[in-house]
Amino acid sequence: MCGIVGYVGPRDATPIILQGLQRLEYRGYDSAGIAIYSQGEIEIRRDAGKISHLFDLVSAAPLHGHLGIGHTRWATHGEPNARNAHPHLSSSGRVVLVHNGIVENYHTLHDELEAEGVHFQSETDTEVIVQLIERYLSSSNSLVTAVQKALSEIQGAHGIVVFSRDEPDKLIAARIGNAGGVVIGLGDGENFVASDLPAILEYTRRAVFLDPQKIAIITPASLQIQTLNGEIVNWKEQHVTWDPIAAEKGEYQHFMQKEIHEQVRSMTDTIAGRVNFSFGKISLPEIQLTPEFAQTIHKIFIVACGTAYHAGLVGKILIERIAHIPVEVDIASEFRYRDPIIEPNTVTIAISQSGETADTLAAMEEARKKGSTLWSIVNAIGSQAMRLADGFISMQCGPEIGVASTKAYTAPLVDLYLLAILLADLRNTLPTQMRYQLVNDLRRLPNLVGICLDRETEVQEIAHLFTDVSNCLYLGRGINMPTAYEGALKLKEISYIHAEAYPAGEMKHGPIALIDKNLPIIAIAPKDLWNEKMVSQIEQAKARGAKIISIANDGDERIKSLSDRVLWIPQTPWLLSPVTTIIPLQFLAYHIAHQRGLDIDQPRNLAKSVTVE
Ligand code: AGP
Repeated sequence: MCGIVGYVGPRDATPIILQGLQRLEYRGYDSAGIAIYSQGEIEIRRDAGKISHLFDLVSAAPLHGHLGIGHTRWATHGEPNARNAHPHLSSSGRVVLVHNGIVENYHTLHDELEAEGVHFQSETDTEVIVQLIERYLSSSNSLVTAVQKALSEIQGAHGIVVFSRDEPDKLIAARIGNAGGVVIGLGDGENFVASDLPAILEYTRRAVFLDPQKIAIITPASLQIQTLNGEIVNWKEQHVTWDPIAAEKGEYQHFMQKEIHEQVRSMTDTIAGRVNFSFGKISLPEIQLTPEFAQTIHKIFIVACGTAYHAGLVGKILIERIAHIPVEVDIASEFRYRDPIIEPNTVTIAISQSGETADTLAAMEEARKKGSTLWSIVNAIGSQAMRLADGFISMQCGPEIGVASTKAYTAPLVDLYLLAILLADLRNTLPTQMRYQLVNDLRRLPNLVGICLDRETEVQEIAHLFTDVSNCLYLGRGINMPTAYEGALKLKEISYIHAEAYPAGEMKHGPIALIDKNLPIIAIAPKDLWNEKMVSQIEQAKARGAKIISIANDGDERIKSLSDRVLWIPQTPWLLSPVTTIIPLQFLAYHIAHQRGLDIDQPRNLAKSVTVE
C-alpha cells in the first residue's frame, strides 16, 4: 500500500522522486513526503494529503540534491498528518528512513527505546526502526551494520529504504518477509529504488528484485546485495518490457473506464500465442506442466482475495467441468489459518493481480509447507506470487491502475479456461471434438467483449435509477453466481452503495424478506443452463414489487417482459459467459460512482495492493 521511491546519482533527485511517487498514486495513500541530502544536511518536506500538495510544499521551499527518498503513506499507526508522514528522522537527525509494512513488536521496541531516553517524534511504528538504527550506529559507525542489527529485531514483513548524512554516497534498501516488495532500477552512473516498477520505468528497464531477508547497498555506480548477516549474494538483472505510456489515462476520464475498455486487447493478448486453433491445442509454457504430472493431480485448491477470489470461483466450475479434477476455492486470509488438508498430488493456484497481496502470499506458503505444488496467475511480472510459484500464468493485461479491478478479473477467467483445457488434454479425458469446440469458442471472445464495450452508453443511461438507492441485491446462478459477487463488489467499492450478492436459489431461505419496491435487483440471466431457474426467481421478486434490472442475451423476450430494464449482451459460449456478463456491471458501478462525483480510481479506505494482513 505504501509507495517508496529513492534515487542516487548525478541528477537532481527531487523531480525524479516526486514523479515516481506520482506514478504510485494508484496504490492508495493518505500522506506523502520526501527527504533530500543537501549540503551536509537532510531536508524533509511531508504532509497529509495528495502528492500535488507535496509538489506545492517543495515549490514553496525548494529542495535540491543527488540523494533522496520519498514515500506515500497509508496510515496504520497514527493518523495521517505531517508528523506521522514519512520519511522519519532518527533523534540525532543523521539517519532518515521510509518504510512499507507493520512492525508487529512495535510496542515492546518503543517502550525499550523510550526507557533508553529516545524521544519519539511521531505515533508511527516506523519510527522505532530508524531509532533502532540510530542506537546501533552509535556502537558500529557503519550504516549497513546498524541496519542489519535493527532489522534483526523487528517482527513482521517490511520494505525499507534509508540513508545517512554521514555516508551520503549511498542508499540502503532492505526487504524482510513477503510484504514490502523492493526493486532496484539500474541506470548508467545512477541507480533507483522503488516499491513498484512503475515508479522507475521512465528511467530504466533494468531491474533487480530484492529477495526477502536481503539488504541492497546502492551507490551511483554499484549495487551490492547482502544477507542480514553480511554475506554477499549474487543478483540477477531482469529486463522489463512494460511501457509507461500504457499507464497513462489517455482519452478516458478515469483509469477504471480505460481499463474496462482495454479488455478487448487483454482478451486478445491472453489468447495470442497460447492457442493453436488449427490443432485445437493450448500451450502455457510457464506452468511447466507435463502429461505425467497432469495425470497425477488429485485435487486443486484456488486461493485469492477479492476480485481474484471471484475469478477463482469461476475457475472451479471450469476445471471441474472440463478437466474433471475436484477444486476447492478459498479466500486466502481464511485458508492460511484453517489448517487445510493437503494430500499428495495437490496443486494450489494463487490468483493475484498485484502478486503482492499479503494474505495470498501467506496462503501460498501454507500450501507449500503442506507439500502442495504451487502455481500462480499474476499480472505483475516479477512479483512475489510469480516467483514463489513452481509455475505461473501471466495475465497479459498490462498495469492495472484503478483500484477497482476490471481487466484483471476477466483475464484470469480466460487463463483458467485455457488451463482447464490443457489439464484435460494432458490427462486424456477430453474428447477431441469437444477440445476443438472449446478452443474454437475462444476465437470470437474479443469480438463479443467489444460488442459489450460498445454498449457503454446504454448502461450510462440507467445510472440515474440509482440516484437515491442505498441498497442493492445481485442475483445469479451457476457459472454466473461469481458474476453477481463481483458486480456487487464493484458497486460497493467505488459507489459506496451497500450491495449484496446471493445465489438466486437461496432467496426463499431468507433474503426474500428484504424485497420491496425500494430494493433494486440486478439479475444475471444469460441463456444458459440456469436461465429457466433465473426466470422463475425473477418472477418471484417481481411479484413482491422489486425493480428488476437484468443482464440478458440479445433477443431474450421472456427476460425482457419481466424486467424494468435490460442490459443486453451478445450470446457467449456458456463457459466463457462470465467474461461478457461482468462488463455491463463494471460500467454500471463506474457510471453510478461517476454520477455521484466520487473518486473512482482511488476510492476511500482502499489501496490497490494490500501488502499487510
Ligand atoms: C478489486 O476491485 C479489489 N480492489 C480487491 O478486491 C482486489 O481484487 C484484492 O485486494 C486482491 O488483489 P490482488 O489481485 O492484487 O491479489
